[in-house]
Amino acid sequence: LYRRKREIETERRAVPLAFDELERAALERLSPDAEAYVTASAGAGETASANRAAFDRFRIVPRVLRDVSDRTLSVELFGETFPYPLMLAPVGGQTKYHEDGELATVRGAADADVPFAVSTASAHTIEAIADERDDATLLFQLYCTPDREETTELVRRAERAGYAGILLTVDFQVPRWAPETAASTNDRLYESTLANVNSDSDDEGTDATSDQLPRDESMTWDDLAFLTAATDLPIYLKGVVHPDDARLAVEHGMDGVVVSNHGGRQIDGSIAALTALTDVVDAVDGAVPVLFDSGVRGGADVFKAVALGADAAFIGRPYVYGLTLAGERGVYEVTHNVLAELDSVLGLSGHDSIADVDRSALVDADERG
Ligand code: FNR
Repeated sequence: LYRRKREIETERRAVPLAFDELERAALERLSPDAEAYVTASAGAGETASANRAAFDRFRIVPRVLRDVSDRTLSVELFGETFPYPLMLAPVGGQTKYHEDGELATVRGAADADVPFAVSTASAHTIEAIADERDDATLLFQLYCTPDREETTELVRRAERAGYAGILLTVDFQVPRWAPETAASTNDRLYESTLANVNSDSDDEGTDATSDQLPRDESMTWDDLAFLTAATDLPIYLKGVVHPDDARLAVEHGMDGVVVSNHGGRQIDGSIAALTALTDVVDAVDGAVPVLFDSGVRGGADVFKAVALGADAAFIGRPYVYGLTLAGERGVYEVTHNVLAELDSVLGLSGHDSIADVDRSALVDADERG
């Protein structure tokens, strides 16, 4: 009877629960190009592996016999209260994964009640994604081009469309060195521009390969002033791993930082994002929120990131695999599964509020064995 019950539950699920199975099933569905793009890591993938290994290093040490009957996962961010410390990371060109692309993702995100960060390189426009669900919380992920007016206009469009904040990604200033980009270009060493549909305000819903966005390779801290002057929206700097950069971000008026190594896609051999987290949290010293991504696969991972000082975490590839397999339902299920595990870990570790979770909930297994 028990086995039959499990079979029925599994039948009702649109996506596998375990991350490895989810990834395998999604990759089987994708074209070789899309598979290569989503799994891509810089170089030989050492940073991507290190991202995961860093999670294994920290182990949860539960406390027992505490009243955990009334649990809350809610957090304060972007001047608002969010029910969960989880968000969907910006991932460009989502029609590669499902015909509805970001329109399916925003529906799944709204159903799961988590914010969705829309990439500058999205396959649908800023406005079309916002129009799809007016109850969604959206962030706009910005890549700066050398053209300040063009960049400002993108931010203004996000503001007008009701986005709640800007994630300015800064670990993307030059192209990464990765086998898949080298193999797919004939006359260039690696890709140097960014596919983009937002530079044209018609919503084509394509895989955003027609318009190309140049990177601003010369941008520095002083250039942030044009952006803070251009918008009242909170701006979070995404791709910070050095504590001195976290301090500089605060000094230059950033409203938050996102500790991230882009899912291990930029520099092979760079520090694991989770390893970088505590130094950044200490450097920021509560001045602004610290968000986290790169390697989060389940609720226990979100718990560990929060325990090490993150206010919230993003998932990238996990929801893209959900999108691939089952559109909005897949995005919803993957997100829900992470949150359900997080709620379980919260209670089983003896906490009733995610806001109370701190470093004392973890042990560093490298030090303690
Ligand atoms: C990304 N990421 C990303 N980041 C960003 O700021 N703008 C973007 O357009 C993209 N595009 C993108 C495409 C794909 C296919 C992937 C996998 C990732 C990085 C993303 O926001 C996030 O940092 C990582 O995905 C987090 O790591 P995990 O959860 O995928 O391990």
